[in-house]
Amino acid sequence: MKKIVIAIDGPAASGKSTTARLVAERLGYLHIDTGAMYRAITWKVLEEKIPLDAVDRIQKLAEKTHIRLERSPRGNTVYLDDKDVSDAIRLPNVTKSVSHISSYQVVRDVMVREQRRMAKEGGVVLEGRDIGTVVLPNAELKIYMVADVAERARRRKKELEHAGVGVDEHALIEEIQERDRRDSTRTVSPLKKAHDAMELDTSKLTVDEQVEFIVRRAEELVKGTKTK
Ligand code: DC
Repeated sequence: MKKIVIAIDGPAASGKSTTARLVAERLGYLHIDTGAMYRAITWKVLEEKIPLDAVDRIQKLAEKTHIRLERSPRGNTVYLDDKDVSDAIRLPNVTKSVSHISSYQVVRDVMVREQRRMAKEGGVVLEGRDIGTVVLPNAELKIYMVADVAERARRRKKELEHAGVGVDEHALIEEIQERDRRDSTRTVSPLKKAHDAMELDTSKLTVDEQVEFIVRRAEELVKGTKTK
């Protein structure tokens, strides 16, 4: 059976990770959370107390750091030089600085090289901001997920509370809007919908509906009953 590449892009907290994980599970594909890779390198920058504007040091760090993603029931378990940083990379200090680190071309070059390597054989679902536009412009199926900001903040709050972190919903709305602004206005690989991506507004959809929508299109593409 032919194995395709599925690219899921969209703004912060639009439901990409949960959806990508479940789509990958249904199809027997590998799920690659590229945001987790940018978060991991950001965590290391903070851990080593490297100033956020020390781009040369950050580049060296990105080149020598080994990031590994493993499948787990919650999504990707993220290993940084064999240390499990899956929970640490979701904390607010990393979230606050990640847009800064991911705006450096030199960091992106390292991450994109790795992402293309992982996608080489097909049978993958990659999620991020620039997968359909820059990383894998030839992906057979491209989805651009959106949801209104209040709904996104509500989902993120639930997720953080689950991890034992209490946050104010209004502060979350501001943080999400600020991150979207930075991610979509940066000069390198900004967040934007690829011209051939299908937009999926998840504001009023259940997770099952989102997953079903994507799985059905993937199956149609594999069977050759539908073109992009
Ligand atoms: O999906 P996320 O919220 O975990 O992503 C964290 C940050 O990483 C996000 O604010 C922008 C950046 N990112 C990126 O620049 N390119 C990607 N392909 C994925 C994430």
